Amino acid sequence: MPEVKKRKWGRLVALGVTLAVLVPLGYLWVTSLVPGSYNPAEMGYADYGGGPSSMGHMDHMQGMSVADLTGPKTGTPDVNVTLIARNQKYQLASGETVDGYTVNGTSPGPLIRAKVGDLVQVTFVNESVKDGATLHWHGIDVPNAEDGVAGVTQDAVPVGGKHVYRFKAEQAGTYWYHSHQVSSDEVKGGLFGPVVIAPATPGEVIATIHTYDGKRTINGRSGAGRVDVPAGTRARVRVINTDNAILRVGLVGTPYKVVAVDGADVHGPTPVSAAYALPAGGRVDLEALVPAGGMRLVAGTSSLSLGIGPADPPTGDLPADTVDLLNYGTPAPLGFDPSKPNRTFDYRIGRSAGFLDGKPGLWWTINGHKFPDVPMFMVAEGDVVRMKISNTSGQSHPMHLHGHHAVVLSRNGVAATGSPWWTDTLEVGNKETYEIAFVANNPGLWMDHCHNLPHASQGLMTHLMYEGTTTPYRVGGTSHNKPE
Ligand code: C2O
Ligand code: CU
Repeated sequence: MPEVKKRKWGRLVALGVTLAVLVPLGYLWVTSLVPGSYNPAEMGYADYGGGPSSMGHMDHMQGMSVADLTGPKTGTPDVNVTLIARNQKYQLASGETVDGYTVNGTSPGPLIRAKVGDLVQVTFVNESVKDGATLHWHGIDVPNAEDGVAGVTQDAVPVGGKHVYRFKAEQAGTYWYHSHQVSSDEVKGGLFGPVVIAPATPGEVIATIHTYDGKRTINGRSGAGRVDVPAGTRARVRVINTDNAILRVGLVGTPYKVVAVDGADVHGPTPVSAAYALPAGGRVDLEALVPAGGMRLVAGTSSLSLGIGPADPPTGDLPADTVDLLNYGTPAPLGFDPSKPNRTFDYRIGRSAGFLDGKPGLWWTINGHKFPDVPMFMVAEGDVVRMKISNTSGQSHPMHLHGHHAVVLSRNGVAATGSPWWTDTLEVGNKETYEIAFVANNPGLWMDHCHNLPHASQGLMTHLMYEGTTTPYRVGGTSHNKPE
């Protein structure tokens, strides 16, 4: 071949190779783009979990709008509070300055306390959170329109705006509220607070754990704090993990019982001297009689603790053992039969290289699909639902389903034998598989995501949807809704 022809040929080959690489890459890039605005009810693809699809009986399901699934519209609230969100510099209880978000001037925000049966009304005002904000009632199975998810159940409340939430407190227990608009930033910055549905008792201690700018705190206080509780008091320590990572907690100085998990009472709890692994977003209630020398709640290491007792209790680290809820406590009726499910879903968490919204990286996948092409888990009201959550992504994920409590059936094929393990926030470690079951008894469109909130914003997020549900809200769009 003459020199010139050879060079021309060589260039063509090079161009061909370049195109062979770029065209598919370009395709992957373009198809990964998340639209600037989308309807969360039409996201991804429908997964009917082996149950009937809506096609046959569309007519009776028309018009079930998220916006209509409200709490009681009439009635005088038993609990009536106004919560004002601000973007500001503020001081933690222990004095450090944080530039973030407050609720009524503090973080954690004020405790909301209600009794079972109370009508709760919260007027939420956004004074200065520029991305907008909402309040989500983490773990409380409120009606869908009260769930506080921007772009799904409401529009983000803009600066100067307000939103009224109304729901009946039906489940006693420990919960928390937090913004569900740009939540990976706003929760981290302080836009959250505790909720307790139960009357106050003399031995009640609330411990909201959060890391502000790398400063680890209990109730906004770094280091070792103390609450005065007379010896002999039955203390109930309500621990709330508002961070993004699992945390070993426990009482040091006396054996204790794990009396409630994610707001639900444990059946037949026995005393342990161990640590409890509290998932991000999860809650646990620890009970003990305060010993004469006091006791101490330890969060992670003894450098962060809360002394509980008549005087400063001794320090000490958590035991190496960890409570395993799979066989803790004694069985009790579930109230439904998970062996006869109407739907069975897989929620397989993986990770793969590719593009997410045009950005190259290693991204989370659900059943092999990347956000937003993820499965939409479709149910009908009254269905018994089983879900197998497995994880081969290389990291651990605290999985949170909104609006429902699920019971754990098994872990890695080993059946649960203890108390019914009801949960709304379940840590699924790498290479672990959990089978859970729940009754679809709360119609609407519900987030089902990782509560390591940056993971949710990186696509580890999907929905549970009742057939026929529609939503007038959009993610993105003019209200700039961005739930994660
Ligand atoms: Cu604690 Cu989807 O939230
Ligand atoms: Cu995660």
